[in-house]
Amino acid sequence: MTSGTRGPGSQTPDNDSTDCGKPGGLLPNVSRRQFLLMGAAAVSLIALERIIPGRVLYAQSASFDRQRIASLSDLEVGVPASFSYPYEHPTALNNLIRLGAPAGGGIGPDNDVVAFNTTCPHMGFQLAGTYKPDDQVMGPCGWHLGTYDLTRHGIVISGHASQGLPQITLELDGDDIYATGVQALLFGFADNADEPPAL
Ligand code: FES
Repeated sequence: MTSGTRGPGSQTPDNDSTDCGKPGGLLPNVSRRQFLLMGAAAVSLIALERIIPGRVLYAQSASFDRQRIASLSDLEVGVPASFSYPYEHPTALNNLIRLGAPAGGGIGPDNDVVAFNTTCPHMGFQLAGTYKPDDQVMGPCGWHLGTYDLTRHGIVISGHASQGLPQITLELDGDDIYATGVQALLFGFADNADEPPAL
């Protein structure tokens, strides 16, 4: 609906608050984006944590042989570079991206260089080509609209996935960028260390 067709009392685009911000609501002054991110963070934590007496388990990362994947000086902000890691396999395709904004796990002088697997963890849609540089998100997925925040370790911010996008851990050595491991399970694998599924 355009602003010209809004009825009395409708929210304007600038008023992005949820119902929770109305008088009597539970979360005053929380924008819709903040509300969605809070919900996504809660879902991710529930998915990642299993309380067993006295202890919390977190997602584990798998280390693989260090592999040089790019030069920092060659990266342009917002332009993904594709690479395969830790296998030469369609489900091990990744994007290396200089986000232009600090990110969890980011490397480089601005902590904004990250890499993520591009196979949707829900049902395997290929997300390469869906990166949105204005918002630093991957998606929406063409099957069920999964969208992932690359500044926050690839957490789910919409869609059906119960797992975030697997992040490739990186190291910087001079101008050389190396992939060193994978955080979270790759789609189609029971264990990241297994042999890749047959094509
Ligand atoms: S395959 Fe991507 S959200 Fe379902």
